Amino acid sequence: MRIDSPALDYDIAPNLSLENAPIVRLEGISKVYGSLNTEVRALAGVDLSINKGEYCSIMGASGSGKSTMMNIIGCLDKATSGHYYLDGVDISSFNNNELAKIRNQKLGFVFQQFHLLPEMSALENVMLPMVYAGVPLAQRRDRAVAALTRVGLDNRLNNKPNQLSGGQQQRVAIARAIVNRPVLLLADEPTGALDSVTTQEVLAIFKELNDSGITVLMVTHEPEVAKQTKRIVWFKDGKVLHQNLTPNTLPSLLG
Ligand SMILES: Nc1ncnc2c1ncn2[C@@H]1O[C@H](COP(=O)(O)OP(=O)(O)OP(=O)(O)O)[C@@H](O)[C@H]1O
Ligand SMILES: [Mg+2]
Repeated sequence: MRIDSPALDYDIAPNLSLENAPIVRLEGISKVYGSLNTEVRALAGVDLSINKGEYCSIMGASGSGKSTMMNIIGCLDKATSGHYYLDGVDISSFNNNELAKIRNQKLGFVFQQFHLLPEMSALENVMLPMVYAGVPLAQRRDRAVAALTRVGLDNRLNNKPNQLSGGQQQRVAIARAIVNRPVLLLADEPTGALDSVTTQEVLAIFKELNDSGITVLMVTHEPEVAKQTKRIVWFKDGKVLHQNLTPNTLPSLLG
């Protein structure tokens, strides 16, 4: 490497340093909602790293700050203080437009209530993130069909959400979340509205995505769901109480 070339240094150094960098690194992240007498401290200094390729679940009592953290990691909300490094870049001070761009390029988000657009078909819902990403029209359909095929819905391309079961709607939402090839897939209680059979179908898709190299981070209240991930993080009162539980060590905590 030529050391007299700043441009070359810049191009090469981040790649070298990113090789082993975590996908997500939170340092002292706090979130305060409201002001003065209505103040709620949802996060009170969260330190957490998620490495590339991990399959990790987040557990903890209702109100402990899980969704607040997921929304910050997912660039849907901003921390009040602290630093957030996404794929090696400190994005804490990015404005809303910059966050929207990062979200579209690097992240996929799956919610408990699916959040599909009701007037659009499964195919159109999955094509939408590619419009924002500037993918040429000719490729959008092919990529959306491929994503829907991956989640087993190639026979439901033209159905609207109200013509699909809950599990099928969640699979459309997963296809939409992966169609821009994110580095990180975030899911906030993705099986919370599903029965046990459909829950297993969705978990099988997450496992397959993780096996293919996508980092998956999922909030769940269900121990049986968390036990199917490789690492479990436990939240309490806006902080990380346990960083590194495993399916084997979780039962002792649940008592
Ligand atoms: N927009 C908001 N305005 C004010 N307070 C909020 C807001 N969003 C969340 N909170 C508060 O922040 C705290 C953390 O909420 P959060 O939704 O992150 O919890 P959670 O762990 O996801 O809970 P659950 O398991 O019930 O989904 C709670 O006390 C909640 O009432
Ligand atoms: Mg929540």
